[in-house]
Amino acid sequence: MTTVNSTIAPLDKSAQISVIGAGTMGAGIAQVAAAYGHPVILFDQNPEAIQRGLDHIQKGLQGQVKRGKMTEEALQALMANITPATDIAALADCKLVIEAIIEDLGIKRGLLANLEANCAEDCILATNTSSISVTALGAEMKHPERLVGMHFFNPAPIMKLVEIVSGLATSTANAALTHATASAWGKQAVYTKSTPGFIVNRVARPFYAESLRISEEGGADTATLDQLIKGAGGFRMGPFELMDLIGHDVNYAVTCSVFDAYYQDPRFLPSLTQKALVECGRLGRKSGHGFYDYSEGAEKPAA
Ligand code: NAI
Repeated sequence: MTTVNSTIAPLDKSAQISVIGAGTMGAGIAQVAAAYGHPVILFDQNPEAIQRGLDHIQKGLQGQVKRGKMTEEALQALMANITPATDIAALADCKLVIEAIIEDLGIKRGLLANLEANCAEDCILATNTSSISVTALGAEMKHPERLVGMHFFNPAPIMKLVEIVSGLATSTANAALTHATASAWGKQAVYTKSTPGFIVNRVARPFYAESLRISEEGGADTATLDQLIKGAGGFRMGPFELMDLIGHDVNYAVTCSVFDAYYQDPRFLPSLTQKALVECGRLGRKSGHGFYDYSEGAEKPAA
């Protein structure tokens, strides 16, 4: 692990932040930055996705107010810090832009080119990619030194860990400023290099892969495996519940990316069961159905 530079100051609260992509991760990251006090622009190409993201944040915060963990005033103040945008020109004054769009190298590169053209030179461009090489993402950039991996975990407002990922061209100063900022936001930031799957997603591949194999081979069904891993293993979530939470499109893309990065090493072989779920749109919680059915009235996985 690279040594932590503890002397560098985080971005000031007044610094304008933007999060691109208002989905599962983007909404959560916007909430974290807004809770710290930053003015945050929540950008998505789809205005309905922004509204869904804002509703999701608001609903989560209302739950906290009900439980007495937050005041209504604090909720209002946090929501007031988030401004929706669909025009990239709105990002001109940002100091940090975090992209959390679809896990696709070509699409992310296109967005980064667009950001380079529209953001100030001193703006750090961060990517929340789960598994795409930060070096490869920066390869077509004019200034790849400004690109830093800032990998949050799901749900972003709750999970403490943030991997600060350096590609070959990432500048130490930008990685350190991103690390300091994530730490100021209350996160446990960890430096790492851009290896396939970084740290956690690499370690977690067998957790998903072997659970999928046991179920495909008829060793035990998904609900039994989830219960067993939680009950006997002490995990907060079973592998199938967790894949439903992450989204099968995302989880499958991560496995494919790690598999390819290791020259099709069979240890990382993607699951056909998961591929089929993606193909039929059963993406997990976000689509209402994955291994479990999340529709109104359906039986939910046991807690
Ligand atoms: P999601 O599918 O929930 O949301 C993606 C959002 O990006 C959508 O609202 C979509 O409209 C928007 N989008 C797509 N292309 C765009 C573009 N070119 N410009 C602007 N907006 C665009 O996806 P999710 O799960 O939030 O994942 C986003 C990123 O975060 C991916 O890179 C993923 O690998 C990573 N990630 C996902 C985690 C998870 O558990 N779901 C955990 C950590 C990282």
